[in-house]
Amino acid sequence: MAARILSGRPVVESLHARIQQVLARRAPHQGPPTLTVLLPNDPSAQAYARAIRKQFTTLRLDYCTVDIDDTLDESRFAILLKRLAEDESVTGILALQPLPKGVSRRSLARLMPPTKDVDGVSFEQQGRLAIGSPWIAPSTPLGGLILLQHYGIEVAGRHAVVIGRSPVVGRPLALLLLARDATVTICHRRTPDLAKLTRQADLLFVAAGQPHLVKPDMVAPGAVVIDFGVSVRDGRLIGDVDPAVAEVASALAPVPGGTGPVTTAVLALNLLRLAGLLEENDLFPGAP
Ligand SMILES: NC(=O)c1ccc[n+]([C@@H]2O[C@H](COP(=O)([O-])OP(=O)(O)OC[C@H]3O[C@@H](n4cnc5c(N)ncnc54)[C@H](OP(=O)(O)O)[C@@H]3O)[C@@H](O)[C@H]2O)c1
Repeated sequence: MAARILSGRPVVESLHARIQQVLARRAPHQGPPTLTVLLPNDPSAQAYARAIRKQFTTLRLDYCTVDIDDTLDESRFAILLKRLAEDESVTGILALQPLPKGVSRRSLARLMPPTKDVDGVSFEQQGRLAIGSPWIAPSTPLGGLILLQHYGIEVAGRHAVVIGRSPVVGRPLALLLLARDATVTICHRRTPDLAKLTRQADLLFVAAGQPHLVKPDMVAPGAVVIDFGVSVRDGRLIGDVDPAVAEVASALAPVPGGTGPVTTAVLALNLLRLAGLLEENDLFPGAP
């Protein structure tokens, strides 16, 4: 069987059309929402920032960057976020990884102002998601679900297996799947016999950051596989799923070309939400 390839491109086009409609509806005196990106000196982060800039320019959304580096300790990071929280010209804030050495993910969760938290990293947004009442969800996992929805792939009642439990991808993804009535199994490095679990998946989501971790014999025939992993090898992007999985799966969102571009479009959607331009349930149709 040759898997249907779930390309992110048509999903991005449809999200862009929706974003443009929403922007066209805003009052003439309202300027475009503005995203401030905290940008480390790191090639992956800078490539991601360029991709955001490109999409935001197309959408005529405002975008600016603030450079961050390891000289920024936690107290100076807190001052920076407080200044951005008070700045009325800033709609959303995105802190790209890697964070400065003195700032943990936990500190970011505590310090990020929830009303400007475009990627759902703050304790408040994470907590809302955990109790099944999300307002802003991290863009990567939400993008994965929007991609499935775009291709008409059912989530409710199916067994979803997620490899990865980080607060950025795996964990919020599992919670979003649960909110959509999937039965969810979460795997991590201490999971014994990973393949035994992945073979039970109707829907397999992979966010481990381990190139080609998932091989064809780890996938049930006909399963849907969504790859989030991004590694760079010999200057090329490489995912967590071996491309040969396409011979077993019924559908595959590959790397590159699957979830990556959707993440950036969802970031723009999240920004509209922070700007008060989207209705309460726009991003979570059917959420409890
Ligand atoms: N598509 C996008 O837009 C997008 C956005 C963000 C990130 N990503 C990519 O997604 C991947 C994951 O990112 P992240 O920030 O979640 O990474 P992370 O913080 O390093 O988390 C990786 C997770 O995978 C688990 N894991 C690693 N190796 C494993 C193995 N062999 N078996 C089972 N579980 C394993 C880890 O388990 P433990 O918890 O036990 O350590 C951890 O929970 C990376 O490649 C990243 O570049 C893509």
